[in-house]
Amino acid sequence: MIDKYGRSIDYLRISITDRCNLRCIYCMPPQGVTFKPHSSILRYEEIIKIVEVGTELGIKKVRITGGEPLVRQGVVDLIKELRKISALEDITMTTNGVLLPKYAFALKRAGLSRVNISLDSLNPDTYKTITRRGEFSQAIEGIKAALEVGLSPVKINTVVMKGLNDSELESFVELTKDKDLHVRFIEYMPMGETSLLSGNYYVSLNEFKEKIINKMGMVPVDIKNNGPSKDFKVPGARGTVGFITAISHNFCSTCNRMRLTADGFLRPCLASDVEVNMRDEDGKISTEGVREKFEKALLFKPISHNFYKNNFFPKKNMSQIGG
Ligand code: GTP
Ligand code: 5AD
Ligand code: SF4
Repeated sequence: MIDKYGRSIDYLRISITDRCNLRCIYCMPPQGVTFKPHSSILRYEEIIKIVEVGTELGIKKVRITGGEPLVRQGVVDLIKELRKISALEDITMTTNGVLLPKYAFALKRAGLSRVNISLDSLNPDTYKTITRRGEFSQAIEGIKAALEVGLSPVKINTVVMKGLNDSELESFVELTKDKDLHVRFIEYMPMGETSLLSGNYYVSLNEFKEKIINKMGMVPVDIKNNGPSKDFKVPGARGTVGFITAISHNFCSTCNRMRLTADGFLRPCLASDVEVNMRDEDGKISTEGVREKFEKALLFKPISHNFYKNNFFPKKNMSQIGG
């Protein structure tokens, strides 16, 4: 699939649930979230069908996201089924890690390639403030479990927020020196209801990037399969450090992805509210329908995101899209 700006789309991010065991401040409001009814959520067979058709059209990599994907029953079986689709080169997951001690081994055995884990602070109190419901120790146990079973490279996603964790960048870089962890600092994106607070949270990574690169003596590295991240490492370190500057230096010109929401809509761009319903008029997912919808969605893929332009914020929370 090549869009009208010449970008080749080979990556599908699949949200399998909008529910989560945490309530991260950049992702969901503290309470009053209405979740999609189970009846509107795609069944695993439907997701498999969509991916099968997607691979015929050029999808080579999928990422399972949420909400928190590990709160949905049967996710290990979904991975097993996806593994049978030979055209898929990479099956990955983004998770908050809390349930990884329980599932890491089974996920690895089912054929999951690797995981990206959210960890926004190395301070247990700040971790609690940011996730509202999380325990730092659980996230750490999740990271350990992922490393132990070899769901690697294990990437750590850290959304950098003003006054909350922006003093911790150096500690995260230190972590990469002796651990095989690949930290990516991410700029906060104003999505849905959390965008009301964007003025409080957003900081450009430009403010930190040069300073920390110089201070820690980091050098650029070229990592394959690291999406929108620009990567560096401390010479001799086991891990790496990346910067995902979605707002200050967007990476839309090389965008290779589309998103499937848990309730069956194809979303050509994270930051545009345009979505295409994958279901036919009778509510079913059909091979022909899915093919048509991929092609339709491709036409809607904008040249770049428009965060902050004319005061526009996407309506959905990140938890309803999967990052
Ligand atoms: P890798 O394949 O390991 O590189 O993963 P990834 O970076 O594609 O996925 P992940 O789910 O770990 O996302 C990391 C951060 O990048 C999250 O904050 C996402 O919201 C953000 N991100 C991922 N894809 C896009 C995108 O297409 N546009 C924007 N603006 N942000 C994105
Ligand atoms: N801005 C930037 N990144 C976000 N994530 C969730 N919400 C936001 C946001 N508003 C990240 C989390 C998670 C990934 C899927 O998206 O760090 O790891
Ligand atoms: Fe849950 Fe992830 Fe959203 Fe946090 S970022 S509330 S862990 S889906």
